[in-house]
Amino acid sequence: MQENTSLPITEDRFMKTFKYFKSNKPKPSLKDVITAEKCSDHQVINITANTVIEDPRAELLGLKNLREWQVFTLKKHPGLLFIRNPFTALGQRYWIRKCLEEYPKKPNKLNIDIEITLEDWWRECFRNGECEKQLQKKLRWTTLGYHHNWDTKVYTESNKSKFPEDLAELSDVLAKYLGYSDFTAEAAIVNYYHMNSTLSAHTDHSEVNLKAPLFSFSFGQSAIFLIGGRDKSVEPSALLINSGDIVVMSKEARLCYHAVPKILPAVDSPWDVLDTEIIMPDSKNINFKYISQSEDIMLSMKENIDNKWHRFKDYIKESRINMNVRQVLNENQTSILMQ
Ligand code: OGA
Ligand code: MN
Repeated sequence: MQENTSLPITEDRFMKTFKYFKSNKPKPSLKDVITAEKCSDHQVINITANTVIEDPRAELLGLKNLREWQVFTLKKHPGLLFIRNPFTALGQRYWIRKCLEEYPKKPNKLNIDIEITLEDWWRECFRNGECEKQLQKKLRWTTLGYHHNWDTKVYTESNKSKFPEDLAELSDVLAKYLGYSDFTAEAAIVNYYHMNSTLSAHTDHSEVNLKAPLFSFSFGQSAIFLIGGRDKSVEPSALLINSGDIVVMSKEARLCYHAVPKILPAVDSPWDVLDTEIIMPDSKNINFKYISQSEDIMLSMKENIDNKWHRFKDYIKESRINMNVRQVLNENQTSILMQ
């Protein structure tokens, strides 16, 4: 990620819009924010495919039937795709829980590492039985796979841990759905936002492979997402992202400036709306590319229906989580060193 500070203030339309939406006094008007509900034809095109091939992995990964997915693109930002919440309620719970309980465990990297090394941040937050809010609030990001280096912006073979199989599988289902048959998830940043958090304007260009799309999965509270152009003189569009929504930055949009100027309280809590009778999927006959322990997923899903869910629920009612997945290498590459 890189800050571009070289533009004269008057031409930095991205910054101007960012400040407008970030402001608390006066509060920004949301009337021009594009939402999946009120998407007018001159701004948004529905590009949902008529014929979609089923993916038997979807159900176990907490996804709705692929035939129900709705895909949009913004006329002004070709390559930017928006998939309106394709997750089931249980699926939302599954990924929220993973981002809190599993992904921040060592050897993954956390922003709090510079202050304190914790083997298991989530467990530490509940060490005394009660929730240590201060420690809980400190977590802002976790990196998976090739660890994003925030200073050098360079991925290296020595700064890498195993990429989670479930997230690789989820990304694979999405990639195949979009027609990217060669996509491999190799790096991810999990961002944790509080109600007053922002993410400033940046482009993601550290990956060797800049042709592969970038997948962004969001859960919990809502956000205004700004998408601009290749430089900050381009006026960005504002998009409302709700829990479960997926943003894909592909093609022309892959290297465009983007930011999150505002977190907004969610109107709905789709993670709360569980169907009364939940039938667990049968994973035996599903051909998974990455996941070896699909029983673990099922167990975790079951736990999310009963008493273990309340701690995650308390966290997500005032937070937003974003999983930002990238392919790092080119298709024929097996390591960073091999260019
Ligand atoms: C990122 C990013 C956007 C979001 O992590 O690089 O752009 O919606 N996140 O949180
Ligand atoms: Mn980004």
